[in-house]
Amino acid sequence: MHRRRFFGTSAGLFATLQSGSLLKAEKAVDSISGRPADTVARDEDFWFNVRHAFTVDRNMINLNNGGVSPAPKTVMDTEIRYLEIENMSPSYYMWNVLDPGVETVRRRLAQMFGCDTEEIAITRNASEANEIVQLGMKMNPGDEVITTNQDYPRMITTWQQRERRDGIVLKQLKFPVPPPSMDYLAKMFEEAITPKTKVIHICHITNRTGQIFPVKTICRMARDRGIETMVDGAHAFAQFPFKHEDLDCDYYGTSLHKWVLAPIGTGMLYVKKSKIEKIWPMMAAPPELNGNIRKFEEIGTHPASQRNAITEALDFHDSIGPERKAERFRYLRKRWSNRLRELPGVKILNSEDPEQSCAIGFISIDGFDAPKLSTYLWTKHRIWTVAIVTPGEYQGLRITPNVYTTLEEVDTFADVMEKIIRKGEIPS
Ligand SMILES: Cc1ncc(COP(=O)(O)O)c(C=O)c1O
Repeated sequence: MHRRRFFGTSAGLFATLQSGSLLKAEKAVDSISGRPADTVARDEDFWFNVRHAFTVDRNMINLNNGGVSPAPKTVMDTEIRYLEIENMSPSYYMWNVLDPGVETVRRRLAQMFGCDTEEIAITRNASEANEIVQLGMKMNPGDEVITTNQDYPRMITTWQQRERRDGIVLKQLKFPVPPPSMDYLAKMFEEAITPKTKVIHICHITNRTGQIFPVKTICRMARDRGIETMVDGAHAFAQFPFKHEDLDCDYYGTSLHKWVLAPIGTGMLYVKKSKIEKIWPMMAAPPELNGNIRKFEEIGTHPASQRNAITEALDFHDSIGPERKAERFRYLRKRWSNRLRELPGVKILNSEDPEQSCAIGFISIDGFDAPKLSTYLWTKHRIWTVAIVTPGEYQGLRITPNVYTTLEEVDTFADVMEKIIRKGEIPS
């Protein structure tokens, strides 16, 4: 990456550093120019500088960044600055001065996703983005939606509510983790299609074992059969690089407060231009907006500060470099999982194929109760993880570090886990 771009697009990235550290940072950036992303993934000088852009609590080890992530200080500062401005005289400063800035956010998000600016709506989270489509789509009794039982519970609840309200039918497919192949997942959907199938709803990457889906194959296959495709990208956007053309879906919803590192309470919805008109917004909009993506943002008074600070997060993301970020995530995941995978009873349930996995790691241990293990890690070691149970199938811990996570933190997790696993039980 070019040095000028690194600093030029992320003014404030090193704002918390002393000038001596800035010099060090410059050297670090110089030293990575032209080097492959998987090499930079192991370059602790580079990640040292990245982690100093955050103000996280280092007296806990946060391995649940998948739930929601801290924003870098530069993003927080921007949000606070906008908040202070809008609070001076909100009906003027928020509506007249700050709100127009949302069009820059829209343009930048469209650029990153690789679509037209007029196809992007800014939402409060992935739930809102996904539900706009799920609830706004015209469906008749008996119409089928196919998804999996490992999709996000709230999105399943949304379809289930439509079952009760509108008489649609939800089919949830089961699949082994890790699955035998991407083709297996695509075929599973193809075989489940019936003449009644109207929608295929898939996670780009599941929130459980972090399985990446063959989105493009499924979307193309669905389109050939006149079926619409809704992709829940809550975990994918900015976890690893891709563009809309790599997916070819009709609808895409994501959070921005996960891997984009944007302010908490931000999300994005993509709707293919030709489909905007036929999706009803969740909150009513006037008919003049029928074909306008902004109809999905008619939510009443809301802060501009969170939304407008998204651009700062996108700059930060670009400054690290999407490929480097993804490779760092894979490196951190392998660092702990390769240490633990051969121990008795251990099953690593995320795929090892780089096409099928990135930041999210998942460990299951025979005979261990995952919620109890997670509680033990927190109460005795201040290691914050999330236990995930898929009833009747598997349970374990989902481990999601972030760009600010240190090797010492990952190694401490691995040390503690190794001791517990060798002992064969959770210490009392
Ligand atoms: C796959 C998936 N979809 C949707 C969501 C909902 O995201 P949010 O809480 O930001 O609305 C999540 C949250 O973890 C998720 O993992």
